[in-house]
Amino acid sequence: MAKVFIPRERRPGETRVAATPETVKRMVKQGLEVAVERGAGLASLFSDAEFEAAGARLVADPAAAWESADVVLKVTPPGHFEGLPGHEAEGLKPGAVLIGFLAPYRNLDMVRTLAAGDVTSLALELVPRVTRAQPMDALSSQASIAGYKAVLLAGWRLPKYLPLLMTAAGTIKPARVVVMGAGVAGLQAIATAKRLGAVVEVSDIRAAVKEQVESLGGKFIELPQAESGEGQGGYAREMGEDFLRRQREIVQRHLAAADAVITTALVPGRPAPRLVTAEMVHAMRPGSVIVDLAVEQGGNCELSRADSEVVENGVVILGPSNLPAAMPHDASLLYARNVHSLLQLVVDKEGKVAPSLDDEIVAGSLLTHGGKVLHQATAEQLQPQEVPA
Ligand code: NAI
Repeated sequence: MAKVFIPRERRPGETRVAATPETVKRMVKQGLEVAVERGAGLASLFSDAEFEAAGARLVADPAAAWESADVVLKVTPPGHFEGLPGHEAEGLKPGAVLIGFLAPYRNLDMVRTLAAGDVTSLALELVPRVTRAQPMDALSSQASIAGYKAVLLAGWRLPKYLPLLMTAAGTIKPARVVVMGAGVAGLQAIATAKRLGAVVEVSDIRAAVKEQVESLGGKFIELPQAESGEGQGGYAREMGEDFLRRQREIVQRHLAAADAVITTALVPGRPAPRLVTAEMVHAMRPGSVIVDLAVEQGGNCELSRADSEVVENGVVILGPSNLPAAMPHDASLLYARNVHSLLQLVVDKEGKVAPSLDDEIVAGSLLTHGGKVLHQATAEQLQPQEVPA
């Protein structure tokens, strides 16, 4: 019977947890032995008592639990934190499985440690975006929360109403919201802003997006589509500077009339495209708000700073790096279900660790296995001798 361990997340600002009483119950039912670190769910409003009632054993010593676990479920990459004897990744035994957001490009040393320790690690950001993998798509479940919260943040900071209001004191015009990038986060931002009554305009470079935007009631800003923005796997590709300059020229007019701007534009494995320059911010109305969700990848707005508030010419620019952590209860509920779904491809019916290596979802998500770094793009960033054949 495999031992599953869920530690408390120790990264500053992280409030989510990788399992909930709901998923613990399911794991116990399928014959797994589940240990949860005391206090692991507190920040997301799941008490130790609820975990215990679901069948988990509560543990006070995380170091010992890391060492004895067959499977560790995480939200953020393992790290070296105060109060622990060493790096979390060093604590895993050979053959153990690690599942979580592992941000491999930013944690190359951790990747080396996992490979050297013969850990089988599955990174949720690598789960292929195929239909069968939708229940495991943690990027989507968390991006959707970020898009929703970004609109609430903007609304909170705006000196105006979002909806059109007809009052005894006269009419208030609806706020104008521009959403840049209409992937999962952007589409949820559009839907939320529309529900709150704003007028929403949207810029994206993938032609397929236009219909989705319009079905949510957004107005698509047409771009000169001389080159296609479609890349591999439904993602965008990196556009040339010439295209981005023309895009900025077109979008500039819309930004100058906007009350709130939510930017979510990303290109896999590349810095975020620069869509809002300092000059464009200066042309915006004082009191307007920009929420830059691409801040961790360098930002879509030239002036945004991670987890800081910048005020430029009266425009408030917010760069929240981890908005799902601002809504930890539902974020954890969804995330834990994503993790539990992926776990089903890693343990067999008897509750033993047996990753289905031929399964396209497992194969696509594997970061390290059998002492090697299997994810090609990460391996290429390591030393040449570490690159798999
Ligand atoms: P993402 O987070 O990589 O990018 C966000 C958005 O930014 C994308 O819509 C992209 O086109 C846009 N973007 C890039 N450069 C831009 C620029 N210069 N200007 C404006 N916008 C720009 O995307 P996300 O949210 O991860 O979704 C990627 C794709 O995957 C989408 O087509 C989505 O529908 C698809 N998807 C498929 C799933 C499935 O079938 N299982 C599940 C989730 C998403």
